[in-house]
Amino acid sequence: MRSIIGKFKLALALFALVSFGAVNNSSADWGGIVSYQEDVYPIIHFRCLSCHGEGDVGTVQSGLNLETYEGLMKGTKHGPVVIPKNPLISNLNVLVEGRAKVRMPHNRKRLTPCDVEILHRWVQQGARNN
Ligand code: HEC
Repeated sequence: MRSIIGKFKLALALFALVSFGAVNNSSADWGGIVSYQEDVYPIIHFRCLSCHGEGDVGTVQSGLNLETYEGLMKGTKHGPVVIPKNPLISNLNVLVEGRAKVRMPHNRKRLTPCDVEILHRWVQQGARNN
């Protein structure tokens, strides 16, 4: 009898460990919340800011300054490039996904599928400054 209870306890402990692991991993999962600060900004920093900082060619030509969240949300001189919850019509996504004649980064290597997905999910989740 004792050994059955012992085995049950062991199974319970193992189950708890496994499910804790699953919960613990979920933030790194694709189903998790995408963060502007941790996920989106690093992509912009390394792949866009060489042309979209103050006075740079992309900013001067389009009016889109990507140095800050506010700049990204303000968009170009023609209007917003991010429509929260709607990556299908957000120019940010259209351009990095190669859905228009012009592609971004302009004349540079395209973003990795992973980076494209991060930007897509972030807009889908409401494009928050999180
Ligand atoms: C090598 C320089 C360069 C890099 C790197 C670059 N851009 Fe641009 N970007 C430009 C230029 C130049 C324009 C203006 C082109 C135009 O209006 O046709 C522009 C315009 C844009 C526009 C506005 C297009 C429109 O519809 O008016 C968006 C959105 C944009 N860039 C996003 C990005 C994003 C996001 C990245 C990084 C993933 C990026 N760019 C990286 C040079 C660059």
